[in-house]
This record gives sequence, C-alpha cells and structure tokens, in this order.
Amino acid sequence: MKTPPSRTLFLSGMDVKVYPDSESAAAAAALLIEQAIVDAGGKRGKAVLGLATGTTPKRVYAHLVDRHRAGALSFRDVSTYNLDEYHPIAPNDPPSYHYYMHEHLFKHVDLAPDRAHVLDGTIPEAFAADHAALFERFIEADSGLDAQLLGIGRNGHIGFNEPCDLSPREAVALKTRLVELHPTTKADAAAEFGSLDRVIPKALTLGIATILSARLIIMLATGGHKAEAVAAALRGPMTAQLPASLLAHAAARVIWLLDPAAARGLDGA
Ligand code: F6R
Repeated sequence: MKTPPSRTLFLSGMDVKVYPDSESAAAAAALLIEQAIVDAGGKRGKAVLGLATGTTPKRVYAHLVDRHRAGALSFRDVSTYNLDEYHPIAPNDPPSYHYYMHEHLFKHVDLAPDRAHVLDGTIPEAFAADHAALFERFIEADSGLDAQLLGIGRNGHIGFNEPCDLSPREAVALKTRLVELHPTTKADAAAEFGSLDRVIPKALTLGIATILSARLIIMLATGGHKAEAVAAALRGPMTAQLPASLLAHAAARVIWLLDPAAARGLDGA
C-alpha cells in the first residue's frame, strides 16, 4: 500500500518528500521505478534504469521483486546500468556489486542477462578508461537513462564520485572512470569487507555528467547518519566537495525521498 509523504519541501529547486519511515520511503522509490518502466515502455517499447547498491536500496529491490512475483511488473523490456563496482574484484566475490545485484534483483526477475550491465571489476587497469568510455556508449546507444536511483554517502558522494577540489562546472562534466575511494567511504565499507585493511581502495564509477543526464533522478536517503550530508546538499551551495549538492544542476529532474531521521537537518527549512 502506498503511504503518502508526511512532508513535502522544495529546496534548491528540487522536490523533497519526507515519508513517515524508511520503509515507506523505499516503497515510494520502488513505485517511481515501476512508473518509469511502464511510462518508458509505453513510449519507446523499453526502459533504461540506472541502479545503485548499498544498504539503502535493498528494500527498493525487495518491493520490485514482490511486484514481479505478483505478476504486476516485468523486466522483459528493461535494460539496467549500475552506478559502480570495486576494482579489481571478481563478480562472484560477495562484496562485489555484481554479486549484490544478482542476489537482490537480477536472479529474481525476468531481466535478460545481456541487458543487466555492471561495470567490470576484472578489466585490467590499463583498459579501465576504455571500458568506462564503452559503458557510456552503451547507455547512449540505449537512448539514455529513464531513471537513475541514487544513495548518498556520509561524505556526500553519489556513485563513487567522491568530494574533490574541482569547480562545480568541472565536476558536473565528470565522465565514467576509475577513482580512488575517500577515507569515509572506505570506513563505511569495512564491515562489508570484514575489516578496513581489506577494503578495495579503487572503484569504477559512473560520472556525475552521466548521472545528471538521466531523465529522472531518484535520491533515496534514510537514517540519521545521512542527515548532515542531506541538509548540506539540499541547502547548497553547489560544490564538488559535496557531490550530491551538484544534483541541483539538474534540479527539475531530481526527487529526494527521505525518512524523518535523514531529514532531521532540514528542520526549519
Ligand atoms: C552504491 C553507491 C553509493 C551508495 C552510498 C550510500 O552503488 O553508488 O554512492 O549509494 O554510499 O550507501 P548506503 O546505502 O550503503 O548507505
């Protein structure tokens, strides 16, 4: 059942919806993805999704799988592109995002294996730039992303676009590439890898430009540990030190879905 938002805000030109809890925020994200599949399917005969991993979207995928099992949603005419992948990593390694996507979505739905694209953590580093450029070409050839699901890092990263010293104009032009992970990102991944020193320090990530090109950008943030980054991103200014603030560059196409804990820093907004 669809729970309505308990609060709706408009910040830095972006729609922000605060739900009564993380479960209803995740359900709202799943519904937007389902609508994007249906709308794009109706218009072009196919839908192209940008997907995220991490703790936050697990419930979104659970909702989509439930809808599929109920016979209400098919992925037959869907292509997916994931935001990121550690490098180097094997696809069957449990912390890999290939593994995650297989476990949480791909193996449960009727998505064709040759349409489920995840950046390749086994590509030799010397070919990483070529691989990243090819991934972008795949997305373009598929006529671009209809909807991009995002989470936010505690440091404000989107995908693995980490805080950096670029100007906002340079940062919004960033393409898909191999990057070094930020210390906060590595600390947050320690549990997944078993310890901090086992965290793979590099990753392939979709660029900010690629993310911003999506026709709809769904940012889902839940939990009090995200409140500071969420408030800074929504209040602005746009800065590459907080990559999520750069979503304001595509403001009219962005929707933020929050739970009350993640929205805590917006009190008074
Ligand atoms: C994952 C990704 C990351 C996460 C972010 C939040 O594909 O690109 O930007 O969305 O680190 O992760 P969680 O949801 O684990 O807090």
